[in-house]
Amino acid sequence: MFPSRRSFLALTGGAAATAAIYGFSAAPAWAEPRFPRNPFTLGVASGDPAPDGVVLWTRLAPEPQAADGLGGMPPYQVQVVWQVATDPDFRAVVKAGTETAAPELAHSVHVEVAGLNPSSDYWFRFRVGSEESPAGHTRTAPAPGSDPGKITFGLASCQSWAGGRYAAYRTMAQEDLDLVVHVGDYTYEGRNHETLADFRNNHAKYKSSPDLQAAHARFPFVVTFDDHEVENNWAGGVSQPDNEASNEPQRFLQLRANAFQAYYEHLPLRRPQRPTGPDMVLYRALDYGSLAKFHVLDTRQYRSDQLTENFPGGPQHPDVYDPSRTLMGDAQEQWLFNGLSSSTARWNVIAQQTMMAQYDYDPTETLSVNHDQWDGYVVSRNRLTNFINQQNPANPVILSGDWHAAFVNDVLLDHSDPASKVVTTEFVGTSISSGCGWAQAIKDGLPANPHTRYINPDKRGWTRCTVTADEFRSDYIIVPSAADTTSPAAVDASFVVRNGRPGAVRV
Ligand SMILES: [Fe+2]
Repeated sequence: MFPSRRSFLALTGGAAATAAIYGFSAAPAWAEPRFPRNPFTLGVASGDPAPDGVVLWTRLAPEPQAADGLGGMPPYQVQVVWQVATDPDFRAVVKAGTETAAPELAHSVHVEVAGLNPSSDYWFRFRVGSEESPAGHTRTAPAPGSDPGKITFGLASCQSWAGGRYAAYRTMAQEDLDLVVHVGDYTYEGRNHETLADFRNNHAKYKSSPDLQAAHARFPFVVTFDDHEVENNWAGGVSQPDNEASNEPQRFLQLRANAFQAYYEHLPLRRPQRPTGPDMVLYRALDYGSLAKFHVLDTRQYRSDQLTENFPGGPQHPDVYDPSRTLMGDAQEQWLFNGLSSSTARWNVIAQQTMMAQYDYDPTETLSVNHDQWDGYVVSRNRLTNFINQQNPANPVILSGDWHAAFVNDVLLDHSDPASKVVTTEFVGTSISSGCGWAQAIKDGLPANPHTRYINPDKRGWTRCTVTADEFRSDYIIVPSAADTTSPAAVDASFVVRNGRPGAVRV
């Protein structure tokens, strides 16, 4: 049960005194806050599982599209009560507490719960005043060094609101997954979005989807952003010049700070991921016992600017080999190499944004590549493939998104030599909902890419990954219509990587 009304009131005293000014009920200072409607309009979520806990998330927003970006909340702190139970009826509450929801963070709540058991199911909920949130379900990670036998997770990316919402999430929420890995384009920026209120209300719009809320309420998410959470094809401190609000560098950094803050406010991220101005440390690792280590990358914030904007491909720019260029930034790259070197996990899952393997869009002799992807940063790709080849970390597997099309790629040590050895395998998930207007160009280029084992640029969906000691399996799940939320799911193709043998095998 939730704390008694008496003990709850003790936590909220004083806050309501100015409530009447902001349309809340006039009430004595000791009263609990009252809302025009249930403030949990954006649902609940959990994320970044550890063996002993997760982060729980919600945001109070009785009016999620309020013009000031504050969700219809007053400009003062509110105490939110939370509970974690081992059963969906909350008969066995094992953890509970209160967390401050502050206007500086749009009354979002990030509760880092510890002291839970590994590999265990939990249910959680929030309460503020007399209002209760829907219940969420989550699952902790396996104990350090233990072998869970199997983990299953969903790979998601690119969920354009305009593309339809969200048959893919509806079908995902029906499964039994340990976690969901989201590799970016969680939101798409609106035209000339610039202010914090712009970005907050855009997130609130996406979060209004019952199917997205259902997935968040069912599984813990591990998220990283790509470009559209900020602006199309941004690179480090450089804006793509299609947004008049961000042509000036200082103005772009302020836009980036606003976008980062809204991203943090709307997702189940831990304290180290809270942004400081235009900076946010999003790369991090998560361990799933002895079976898997997830290395989650940020390939946007520290990258060199794109060499060309040719789309979907163009002639390879000679500077893709310039050693001063970087996709991850030196610090993150060294962190990744250290993490791979020290990992004792059977599988090293590298969850990141853009396609790593080369893809040639020109079926003739000419090489035509996309410079926003790793093809525009060949020097970075070669540093990673050489590291894998020389240091031999256990079973690296690459997860990617961004391109609104499904691919299975064998990543070569050196893509300039088609006979080069396969060092790792890449699973590129299709989009949840974003369209692929360049599908024909992908199909036309396929004969020039013998290392590409599978493409499907025509369908939206998600990818189910099942990991055991013997193999890493990816099932490419598609939905007939991204907009029809009753669409049934179908498996379009399945591939495995076998332990110790890089390269995809169709099953
Ligand atoms: Fe996208």
